[in-house]
Amino acid sequence: MSDDLTVIVGGTVVNATGVFPADVIIEGRRIAALAHRDSALAQSVRSAGHRRIDATGKYVIPGGVDPHVHLQLPMTPEAMSADSFETGTRAAALGGTTTVIDFAGQLHGTNVRDAVDHRLAEAEGRCAIDYALHLSLGDIHDQSLKDMRMLVDEGLTSFKLFMAYPGAWYSDDGQILRAMQVAADTGAMIMMHAENGIAIDVLREQAAALGRTGSVWHGRTRPVELEGEATHRAIQLAAVAGAPLYIVHLSAAEALEQVAIARDRGRNVFAETCPQYLYLSLEEHLDQPGLDGIRHICSPPLRSRTQGHQRTLWSGLRSDDLSVVATDHCPFCDAEKRLGIDDFRAVPNGLGTIEHRMDLLHQGVVAGELTLPRWVELCSTTPARLFGLAGRKGVLAPGADADVVVYDPEATHTLGVATHHMNLDHSVWEGMEVRGQTSTVLSRGTVIVDEGRFVGRAGHGRYLQRDLPEPLR
Ligand code: URP
Ligand code: ZN
Ligand code: ZN
Repeated sequence: MSDDLTVIVGGTVVNATGVFPADVIIEGRRIAALAHRDSALAQSVRSAGHRRIDATGKYVIPGGVDPHVHLQLPMTPEAMSADSFETGTRAAALGGTTTVIDFAGQLHGTNVRDAVDHRLAEAEGRCAIDYALHLSLGDIHDQSLKDMRMLVDEGLTSFKLFMAYPGAWYSDDGQILRAMQVAADTGAMIMMHAENGIAIDVLREQAAALGRTGSVWHGRTRPVELEGEATHRAIQLAAVAGAPLYIVHLSAAEALEQVAIARDRGRNVFAETCPQYLYLSLEEHLDQPGLDGIRHICSPPLRSRTQGHQRTLWSGLRSDDLSVVATDHCPFCDAEKRLGIDDFRAVPNGLGTIEHRMDLLHQGVVAGELTLPRWVELCSTTPARLFGLAGRKGVLAPGADADVVVYDPEATHTLGVATHHMNLDHSVWEGMEVRGQTSTVLSRGTVIVDEGRFVGRAGHGRYLQRDLPEPLR
C-alpha cells in the first residue's frame, strides 16, 4: 500500500447513486477506494497510521461543480464583477465547490482565439480550485464557426449563445442555427440565454418613456412569456440542427414547460436554474425602493411568488426537467449597482452566490424538497457529466479526482456580509439562517479548507481540458 494515503473515516458517503457509511481512501490526487466501515480494508487502512480526517456524524460528498460563474467580468466599461479568480474561487471552496466553469467572451469585432487566450491568462495561477472555460459567442461568422471546431479539439467543448442583449451579445436565429450545426457536428454543447431580447428592448424603451425606471420595471419588461418563447425557439432550432442544448439560468414556469415537453420527446435538452430563482422573488426583493431593489437585478429577473414560479422550479428539480443548479455568480458592489439608481437599464446585471450554493440547496433537503443523492446530483454529478468531466469530477469513486467535501449537516449559520468570503459589500442572502455547513474540503487530495478555515492557495487550481458532454460520447 502506498505511503501517500489519506483516509476520511466515519462519515456517511453521499453520491448521486445513494447514501452509505464508508471510509474514503485517497491515494495521492485520486480516490483509491470506498471501504464499508466494517470491512477488513477499512480496518487495515485505519490501523496503518495514515493521515486521517474524522467525518463522524458528517456527510462525505463529491466537491461541488458550479458550471456557470462570471469572475472579474467587465460587464460594462464602468462595472467589473466584484470577485476575482482568486477571491471567487476561495469563496467557492469555503462553500464546498471544488470546480467552477467560467466564460471566455468573444465580443463583437473580436476573435475567438484572442478571447480564450486572454481569459486563460487572467485565470492562470490565481484559482484556488480547478476551473474550466466555456466560450460566450458574441459574433458568429465563418471564422468564429471554424474556431469553435478548433476549441473543441482543445477541450473547450461548450458555447454560450444569447437571444438577449441586442447590440451586445445577441445572435439572430440564423447565426444561432449555424453555431448549433457546428455543435451537432462536433458533439459540443450549446448553452442558451433564452430571453427574447428584441421584444424586451421595445418594452424597456416604452417603460422608460413613461418614467417607469425603478427596479421592478426590470422584471416587468422581461415577462415570463418572452423567456418561454425564446426557450421554445431555442429548442426547435436545436432540433433542426440536431444539437444538444442546455438552457442557462432558467427562471420561469413557462420556460420549464418547454423544456419538459422537449425532454418528454426524448430530446437532448437540459436546463439549469439558480438559487436566486428558487428563493427570491419579484415582489419581496426586486420591488423595493432604491439600492435594495437594484441589488436584486439580474437577467432573467426574479419571478413572481404569487404566480408560483419558485414552487414550480423546486418540482422541476425533483422531476429532472431541471438537471443542474448553478449560481450564475456575477456580483457587483453597491458602487457599481448605483450606476443605475435612477434607471434600471443602467444597473449591471448579476448577483453573488458562489459561496452558498451547496448550503442553499441543502436547505432543499432539510425542507423535504430534495433527497440527499439528488442534492449531490444537481450540484456536482450532472454538471460534471454534461460538461465533459464525468468520472473525474462530481463523484466519489475509485479513479476520480479526490475533490471531497466533509459536510456537517447539523451546523447552523447565518448568511450575510459579516460572514461571507465573497468580495462583495452586501448580500442578497443577508440574514438567511441555514442548516448544514462545509467543514473540510480536499482538492485533488490536498486539504484546502480545514474545519471551515481556508488553507489552500491561489494557483493550486488547474485548468481542465474537457471531454465532450456525456450524452453524446
Ligand atoms: O444577470 C446575469 N445573469 N448576469 C450574468 C450574465 C448572464 O447573462 O449570465
Ligand atoms: Zn445569461
Ligand atoms: Zn451568466
